Order: sequence, then structure tokens, then C-alpha cells
Amino acid sequence: MSITIAQLTDTHLCCHPDAELRGSRPWHSLKAVVQQVAKINPDYLLLTGDLADRGSPSAYQQLIDLISPLQIPTYWLSGNHDRLSVMREVLVHSLFHAPKAVLLGGWQLILLDSTLANSRFGEGEISPQSLQFLAKSLEVELPTLIALHHHPLPFGIDWLDQMQVQNADEFLALIDRASQVQAVVFGHIHTAFHQQQGNTHFYGSPSTCLQLDLPQATPKDKLPGFRLLHLHPDGTHQTEVHRVMV
Ligand SMILES: [Fe+2]
Repeated sequence: MSITIAQLTDTHLCCHPDAELRGSRPWHSLKAVVQQVAKINPDYLLLTGDLADRGSPSAYQQLIDLISPLQIPTYWLSGNHDRLSVMREVLVHSLFHAPKAVLLGGWQLILLDSTLANSRFGEGEISPQSLQFLAKSLEVELPTLIALHHHPLPFGIDWLDQMQVQNADEFLALIDRASQVQAVVFGHIHTAFHQQQGNTHFYGSPSTCLQLDLPQATPKDKLPGFRLLHLHPDGTHQTEVHRVMV
């Protein structure tokens, strides 16, 4: 049976639900996204980092309060704006999980930490231990989806690409050798992105609040959004980005 995963990313929740962040209101925006997701009722949620804007405990509590009523198992990983120690303390809930890998509907989902302690400008790195874990996980010959926060491929904007995975070459070399990796999904860039390399599709996704300011952006591109991933038992997949009026 096919499964559907909703990827929500870069929620950037602040200390207070009414806080503003560069013209957006992350809590209100996420609430609208969650209402839309509830209508779709996916099998799983995947939260790919920058869940809090400054890593405050109240932001993570807001996340639980907004998302847990959906009653959907939720997998999360951290981004450069998060504080992992606070996440581990606050995101304690029977629906919230942060495994390194999990089997779902005949697929393997690998959650890869790309955060770098003491990063200078939000750049990412995949540690040698995580690369080792990835290599070991890719011995499993199931169709595979990899999730991480930072973009492993350049987007094409200098300041943004300074913040990508710094050792992306090592990551991409592993993917290149593993033909079962169907898709890599990430946040961080706050806009929709798709590129195929070999057998693997790379998907960036919009933030649930603030979007990357691109000159070619249409009014729709500026709306909060999320991505749906439909994973089929035969190893194929489909995906689409949904936008939400706030
Ligand atoms: Fe972000």
C-alpha cells in the first residue's frame, strides 16, 4: 500500500504565538498549514528543521500543541536555528520521534543530521559518524528517502549556497553508488526546488511561514507551503507542493 508523508519545514516558531518574523507570523501560518494537512490526513509527518527560530522551549511546546491533535506519527530533525538539547527535552510526546532511520510502507526513511555546531552563517555539514551511518543504512536494498535540513546541491544564489552542506561531495558520492535512493528532501532554502541527478530526485520545500525572496516569484510562490510525498510499494514516488492562504 502506498503511503503519504507531509513534509513541513522551517516553521521558525518564536517565543510567543503572536510574534512576527520579517512580515510573517509563524504560529498563525503553521496553524493554517496544519488545518490544510488535516484535510489530507497523510500517514506521517516529516519536520525537516528550523522548527524554532531561536530554539526556545516555548516554540517547541507550540509545535506539539499545534501538531499533536492531528494524531499523525511525526518524525523530526533539527536545523541551524534549532537547539537540539532543548528539542530533546521538550519534544517528548508519543507521536514525536527522531530516529536515524525507520522502515515505512516498504521504504527506508533516513533522517540525517546536517547541523554544524558553531556554524558561522548557518552552513551545514554531515559528520563522519553520520556519513558512516548512511553508508551502513544504504546496505538495505529498499527504496529509500533521505531527509536532512540543509541543501546538498547548490541552489544558484551565492549567499544561500554558502549555507549549504559543506561536505556535500562526500554525501553525493554515497548516493551515487546507491541506486535505491529515490529521493532526498530538505528544507533550509525556504522555496520549492527540484533537480534530478542519476536515479535520485532532490527536493527543496517552502517554509510554512517565510519564503525566499526571488525576483521571479509569483504571488503563489510567496505563500506558506508544504510538500506531500507519495511513496509507492514498487519504489516509485510522486510529490507535489501545496500552498496555503493565511
Ligand atoms: Fe529556515
